[in-house]
Amino acid sequence: MLKISFSSMHIPGQGALLLTVGAGQKLGKEGIALDRKLNGALRRAMASSHFTGAKEQTLAVLAPAKSRLTRIILVGIGDPAKMSEILLARAGGAAIAALGGKDAQAALLIDDHKGLAVAAAEAAAQAAFGARLRSYRFDKYRTKMKPEQKSALRNLTVLATDAAKARAAYTRFDKTADGVFFTRDLVSEPPNVIYPESLAAQCQALKKLGVKVEIVDEKQMKKLGMGALLGVAQGSIRPPRLVTMSWTGDPAARDKRPAAFVGKGVTFDSGGLSLKPPAGMEEMKWDMAGAGAVIGALMSLAGRKAKANVVGVVGLTENMPSGSAQRPGDIVTSMSGQTIEVLNTDAEGRLVLADAMWYAQEKFNPRCVVDLATLTGAIIVALGHEYAGLFSNNDELSGQLTKAGTEVEEKLWRFPLGEAYDKDIDSPAADMKNIGSGRDAGSITAAQFLQRFIKKGTAWAHLDIAGIAWQAKDKPLCPKGATAFGVRLLDRFVSENYEKL
Ligand code: BES
Ligand code: MN
Ligand code: ZN
Repeated sequence: MLKISFSSMHIPGQGALLLTVGAGQKLGKEGIALDRKLNGALRRAMASSHFTGAKEQTLAVLAPAKSRLTRIILVGIGDPAKMSEILLARAGGAAIAALGGKDAQAALLIDDHKGLAVAAAEAAAQAAFGARLRSYRFDKYRTKMKPEQKSALRNLTVLATDAAKARAAYTRFDKTADGVFFTRDLVSEPPNVIYPESLAAQCQALKKLGVKVEIVDEKQMKKLGMGALLGVAQGSIRPPRLVTMSWTGDPAARDKRPAAFVGKGVTFDSGGLSLKPPAGMEEMKWDMAGAGAVIGALMSLAGRKAKANVVGVVGLTENMPSGSAQRPGDIVTSMSGQTIEVLNTDAEGRLVLADAMWYAQEKFNPRCVVDLATLTGAIIVALGHEYAGLFSNNDELSGQLTKAGTEVEEKLWRFPLGEAYDKDIDSPAADMKNIGSGRDAGSITAAQFLQRFIKKGTAWAHLDIAGIAWQAKDKPLCPKGATAFGVRLLDRFVSENYEKL
């Protein structure tokens, strides 16, 4: 794991140096001094390349003479006047990505650029955050990796004018990165390792942070009448679990009702008897990414001791075909008392969430419910892999989530809800069916289904993260694979709307 530390501004004597450069090849204060010391090597390197200093561009200057540095890597940040926290995080991520090679030690120098729009300490903290986020790796099952496939980097020193201030600003982000990494690990693990019981056991790790963790087992679920979740689980030999994680960071709050985050935790979705085609089925190991994000968000909040009351609820089950699996045509009774005709066993996420959300409302009387789920393939058709779908009965909550998402670049796009869509899930045999009558508006009918399990007056938002929980390509803040989408968003949402009351 990459260790990040902070130190006062200086040019290190060894290892690799990552140095920020503004648009138009503009070096900052330290960069100018270093370039002078190196007889103009940096400017010559820039002049002989297409490196302009644009955002996330990098240029390596190898073995500079008159210095014992192994490399100097110039990292473009674009126009300093247009700098923002997220752009600095991305610059930090780009810097780490550029650092293949043998160096175990590197220094990241966020230079003093004229007109930099973010305060120096915050800038260094954000760059450190981005660097750590990008450094994530999941290679524990690779036993034969060659040295050049591994990252040699162990220590990153972030250089800042006021190192103490930068370090202090970074502390909270380090906790959020812990949450992000935890989520990425859980989502990356194969489905023979992460299944309902083992995922519930992982949640216990939050206890040492002061989170109250309670596990509801199958027997208790039966007693509670969770027929929707149990119907999904009955095809698997692995028993389901429902986990609640309560963080009471503001026990004296005037309004003590928590925010409730509810996650879909289908640890493997084969489709059940409505079996999925084999090609790509392995991807359904990450059908628990909603639950993973909720767990990571709670880890972040508790880790940084957020002054807010938040509860996470995750419904954990496998969706498997077997002799005991539920059949298309089965009618189940959810904990809410509403009955559901299961016409497609592959529309299982909504069944899990129906009971998990109802339980969250009954048990915690929350101020709002935000659910996260890899719910529909249709959301990928609509939005691809850039935005998650947002569905909500509340404009204010929608606005708060969208704002937080924009700031951390976990972007949301809102979809409509309405009576006409809702009608589409009426069933002649039960209170509702678990799919719409056709494929049209599949993400919306899924959300309409969820809304039927939200009590009157509860502000609710549903995030369909199917397109964004796993990525095929590297991004500035995340190597390819599990993204932990939602962790930073929920953390920011809490910090802006609960902690500042
Ligand atoms: N977990 C899937 C949705 C999904 C698809 C997530 C692709 C990530 C990538 C969900 O349980 C599902 O199977 N949904 C069905 C619903 C349909 C049967 C109404 C779908 O989207 O095809
Ligand atoms: Mn499914
Ligand atoms: Zn699913």
